[in-house]
Amino acid sequence: MSTSSTSNAAAEREHRHADPQALADALAERVASDLRSAVAERGTASLVVSGGSTPRPFFDRLSRTELPWQHVAVTLADERWVPADHPDSNERLVRKTLLVEAAADARFVSLVNDAATPEAGRDACERALATIPRPFDVVVLGMGGDGHTASLFPETTELTAGLDPFSSDACLAVNPKTAPHARMSLTLRAILDSRRLILHITGDGKWDVYQRALEPGPASELPIRAALQSGRVEVWWAP
Ligand code: 6PG
Repeated sequence: MSTSSTSNAAAEREHRHADPQALADALAERVASDLRSAVAERGTASLVVSGGSTPRPFFDRLSRTELPWQHVAVTLADERWVPADHPDSNERLVRKTLLVEAAADARFVSLVNDAATPEAGRDACERALATIPRPFDVVVLGMGGDGHTASLFPETTELTAGLDPFSSDACLAVNPKTAPHARMSLTLRAILDSRRLILHITGDGKWDVYQRALEPGPASELPIRAALQSGRVEVWWAP
């Protein structure tokens, strides 16, 4: 019974679209509307985005949307600890595909700095993140086939700290065993400190992972489960 009521509650937050482009267009419209309202109500707005391949059409569409971008701060849910011009850098992706066109006026807050390791650079990242008013207006998460979100990977020693609901840190250094590069990731606490929390996924495989994550079980197995258990995640999906 509890599984079915959990599923029903989750279904109310599911936004299904015909294909990835329709999904990206609708998501860009929703996010733009939130950012516009935030600027109108509070003078500033904030947007947290993810790396990976899924957000590309969303970034493209959002970048061409007229908004008071000069009042919008943009940062990442996670970053690989590589220079900002490295092919695997999420910042590079965001600078090339989101912070262009109309969105070129947004203020970008980087999750990487000159420190040799994310452990050494973490405090500076924390200070950079503190320049963005919280709660974040919109957080758009991605998810891997292993159930990771941001850089909160299963089987990493840092996962317990990353999922600590009482953490006072907004970000933490992560050394994934199953993915390249040391990382900087937002903590679950920071991710949940948001007005709108979106999970943007495509494909049947990720839908199945999402369904598994709705089942009761440890977040250490599928870290996205910890976000879903908050009951606040909107799932935006297309085949
Ligand atoms: C990263 C991401 C990560 C990503 C998922 C999904 O930098 O690795 O932020 O959490 O969102 O791995 O990636 P895809 O969209 O490429 O499947």
